[in-house]
Formats: sequence, C-alpha cells, structure tokens
Amino acid sequence: MIGQKHKKRIFSGVQPTGNIHLGNYLGAVKNFVKLQSGGNEALFCIVDLHAITVWQDPKVLRSSIRELAATFVACGLDSNKSILFSQSQVSGHAELAWIFNCIARMGWLNRMTQFKDKAGKNKENASVGLFAYPALMAADILAYHATHVPVGEDQKQHLELTRDIAMKFNNDFQVLNFFPIPEPIIEETAPRIMNLRDGSKKMSKSDSSDMSRINVQDDNDLIALKIRKARTDQEPIPEEVSFLEKRPEAYNLVNIYASLVNCSPEDVLRDFSGKPFSYFKPRLVELLVSELEPISKKIKELLEQPEEIDKILNDGATSARKISDPIIRSTYEILGLTKNLE
Ligand code: TYM
Repeated sequence: MIGQKHKKRIFSGVQPTGNIHLGNYLGAVKNFVKLQSGGNEALFCIVDLHAITVWQDPKVLRSSIRELAATFVACGLDSNKSILFSQSQVSGHAELAWIFNCIARMGWLNRMTQFKDKAGKNKENASVGLFAYPALMAADILAYHATHVPVGEDQKQHLELTRDIAMKFNNDFQVLNFFPIPEPIIEETAPRIMNLRDGSKKMSKSDSSDMSRINVQDDNDLIALKIRKARTDQEPIPEEVSFLEKRPEAYNLVNIYASLVNCSPEDVLRDFSGKPFSYFKPRLVELLVSELEPISKKIKELLEQPEEIDKILNDGATSARKISDPIIRSTYEILGLTKNLE
C-alpha cells in the first residue's frame, strides 16, 4: 500500500440531525447523485458519530439515521451504484480518528472556524468531541483512501485539515503516498446556499428560525410561504451578476434557481432581468415544488419499510468494511501496533 497510486474514490458524509435543507441538498446530496454515475466508486455515509458531538436524544437519533438513509435514496442515491451506510457501523472510523487525534496539532484544530461558531461563547462547556471533530472527518475520508470529497464550501477548511493530517502522517512515518491527499469537489452554483432571512449567514439546520431555510420535506404551501417571505430588496433583477454582489439575498435566490435548473446565474439573469422579485419568486416556488415534492413523497414511502432501509445500511456497511479494514490494518502496522482483524 505504500508508494501506491490511488484510484479515484469518492467519499462524503451528512449528519443525521433532522430533516436536511436545501443547502445540504443543492450543495451536497444532488452532487452525490451525479457523482455516483460514470463508474466512480463512491461511499456516502450518515455521520452519526459526528452528530453526538452535541447532545442527541437516542430515540430521535435512531429515527433520524433511518430518515437520512431514506432521504439519500429518495434523492436518487442508488445502493447498487454507491455504498450507503452509517458511520457507527464501521468501527474503523473511530479507530483511525484516535490515531489522527495524535497526528493533528492543537494549533491546527484551534483555527477551525466551525468549532468557534458551534461552541460560541461557552467554549469551556463544549465537548472534547466537538473540538476533535475534524480529525474524525479526516478518518472518515482516509479510512477509504478516498481521493475526492464532494462538500459545500463550509467544509473546505475541514478538508484542508484532512490534507494536512494525511501529509503529516505520510511524512512522520516515511510512508510516501500511503494516505492520498484528497481534493474537494464543490458544486459551482451552490457552494453556499444562504439563509433566506439574512444573506450574510449560510442556510443551516441550527438557525432558530425555520423560516430561514427550506427543508427538503416542507410541504408546498410552506415552501411558497418561505419564498414569499424571503428577504429581497426593492430593485428589479439586474442584467449582470456583478450587480448582485451587494445584494446577497437577491443573489442567493438567483443561485438557488440556477442550481435547480442546472444553469449559470448569468442564464437566469438573461431570462429575468428587469423583472421584480414578485414576478421571480412564484417561478422559483414552482421549481422548488417540482423538485422537492417527489422526494418528500418517496421519503414517506420508504419510511414505511424500515427493514428495507436497514438492509441497505447493513449491506453498505459490509462493503465499506471490506475497503477500510485492510487500510486500518496497514495503518496499525505502520505505527508499530498489532491488529488482528480476522
Ligand atoms: P453537514 O451535515 O453539516 O452538511 C452536509 C453537507 O451539506 C453541505 N452544506 C451546504 N452546502 C451549501 N450551502 C449550505 N448552506 C450548506 N449547509 C451544509 C455541507 O458542506 C456538507 O457537504 N462535517 C460534515 C459531515 C462530514 C463529512 C465527512 C463530509 C463528516 N465526515 C467526510 C465529507 C467527508 C458536516 O457536518 O456536514
């Protein structure tokens, strides 16, 4: 495994912390669906060990894991094309995370903006897991020698840390190329979907106002209400994207539209320039409803067959272990540790 050339392998994860929102969908999951085709080997993981870095009610967590699995499938992920599983099913993630805790430096983790945002003023009371979270994320990726990681822009810093960990490990133990240096794949039109009420913040599960985000399972009336109430300004839609730079809320809606129809923001402006947002918003609602309604319906259907979902995850975990077990074993050997997996 040392000095090897790595074949293209895709890995990404989503936290099972309730209903996913449009940012997760356009910034990540929709991209996963594209990437699973074209002969790429791909693993998509429900990162439940990440979720417990903050308190989770065990019963709710259990159903959120199933719900996210159903959402993956309803969005178009196909267990015949990619490996779908949850993180806690494959113990290699936690094992490698410990090793990476010993590779990553305090200074590196201290720079992580997400920890600062999530811990807020009460840093002393945050869990150690929340601080060490990026080392677990590095383990998720590198346990599979993944080379490409589709994520939203907010995860870029964590991915840079993953690269640093991989380089330091390879260098410290003189194992050239043992861990690949993974590349992010960031969706162009949806790198960062913004909050509908405040265009300076990203759309997020943790915002206290549900009106700030569209959830994939929102019903049609709620989607219409949220878009109607989404903040914009009095100006009409401009001709050029550069005129949207100081209008973050307007820019966000144009970007969402572009991402839904797979075109560029320029294309959207070509069709709508000069029109007021009162004209644009109902068109955006139509698009959102036609994209999300079938997904919600499918999620509900799938949740009626929990044993099917569990089977997908169990089979996925078996396939995932087949890839990661030998990598973890080699990692132990490199470190001078013994591991008997059989
Ligand atoms: P999470 O669960 O917060 O988000 C899942 C994915 O959605 C993307 N995303 C967004 N994209 C665009 N606009 C937004 N407003 C927006 N909000 C979220 C995220 O960038 C992510 O791609 N740490 C990760 C999960 C993780 C992971 C991994 C990802 C754990 N291990 C290994 C990749 C590889 C997280 O909390 O994502």
